[in-house]
Amino acid sequence: MSRKTGIGIIGCGVVGSAVARLILDQGAELSARTGVTLELRHVLVRDLTKTRPLTLPAGILTANHADLLADDQTEIVVELAGGTNQAMAMMLAALHAGKDIVTANKALLALHGPELFAAARSAGRCIAFEAAIAGGTPLVEAVRRGLIANRIDAVYGILNGTCNYILTRMLQDNVGYAHALSEAQRLGYAEADPTLDVDGTDSAHKLALLASLAMQQRCDVQDIPVRGLGDIELADLIAGAELGYVCKLLAVAKRCPDGLDVSVQPTFIPRTHPLAGVLGPFNAVSVYGSVVGHTLFYGPGAGGMPTASAVIADLIDVAIGNARRTFQCIAVLPDQTGPATHRPPGENRMPWYIRLGLRDRPGGIGKVATVLGEQGISIATIVQHESFEADHDDAVPVVVTTRPAKEHALQRALSAMTDLDVVIGRPVWIPVLDKHSE
Ligand code: HSE
Repeated sequence: MSRKTGIGIIGCGVVGSAVARLILDQGAELSARTGVTLELRHVLVRDLTKTRPLTLPAGILTANHADLLADDQTEIVVELAGGTNQAMAMMLAALHAGKDIVTANKALLALHGPELFAAARSAGRCIAFEAAIAGGTPLVEAVRRGLIANRIDAVYGILNGTCNYILTRMLQDNVGYAHALSEAQRLGYAEADPTLDVDGTDSAHKLALLASLAMQQRCDVQDIPVRGLGDIELADLIAGAELGYVCKLLAVAKRCPDGLDVSVQPTFIPRTHPLAGVLGPFNAVSVYGSVVGHTLFYGPGAGGMPTASAVIADLIDVAIGNARRTFQCIAVLPDQTGPATHRPPGENRMPWYIRLGLRDRPGGIGKVATVLGEQGISIATIVQHESFEADHDDAVPVVVTTRPAKEHALQRALSAMTDLDVVIGRPVWIPVLDKHSE
């Protein structure tokens, strides 16, 4: 016999409207498959007069938060409005009113997860958040339950669909950064404020959550060094391609003897690496487990329907009682584990890519090579293409890749390079993932 579960959704944007549409259009099919009938009872919005992509049955749309809280038949609140302050207050209110929570709000969980999870636990409720990491790819379920036999040693992920879409379009279709970003917004991949995507913050929110689950140490977002796409130009993507690399905004968490190494930064990965073939708005995460070995999770990381797919999975899991049992029994959430011990900054040893503008004068490359040598950094390749337009004082682009070197040494070399009279502007630097750093 089918069990009816009342649902209230907060937010009717790209994801909220996709979830409402799935419940309304595919509810019967879902019910036959799962034994749970999801009953859409409320959709909370700020502005009742706004035009929306779907028409809801009468009486469902409301601007009054109390409608959800006071309704005993609304058992699960789905928080899809985003943001942090108001979302936090709404989530706590829903927990106190005895509702379980399903959310895609990675920013909120990264910043206030321990407090929210603890509040849910003491209220005897649960928070399910499959949609908060890697969109429609069921990664949270895999890490929390499927890989429970493992000590997870490393996670390498492409966690932001918007950035991956931008990097893909720029190189493949030769479109500018601004055009690629506006397309990502039009297609519903970007956050309401796309700065969060392109400056790496969204990936850092997801990595904080993922690393906490995978490493079973609470990883706070403010401890993750983050670089976004800001410095990257088409020239870097093209130069990387010539060298056999693809640039990805890579989120990494790995156990090292001196602590947890976490970062979000643009990274060159070899064309043959499985993550190199992840294109457009797709996400992929490599997870290295002590028992299973290397696993790879791949799927759409952004967009209404893919994210709604993860939200619906959580709704069913909560409705049948699985989510609450997992939430209470499996102690891997960041309110249940101790704080992470982080590796001291600058200790990561990797090959590096450096692009600099050099005056076309004798001895320029020699000076750059000397600076690198003084820091104990060995050059792997050096490329300068003939520039027929450049006159004496124009910058000629030179691309250097190095053998593995510590980031400390690289930063000292970059700073000395910037002071050289032959170098114009600030060098661009990108780490390279090779078999030693992975
Ligand atoms: N803006 C996010 C992205 C959506 O582009 O990945 C999914 O979290």
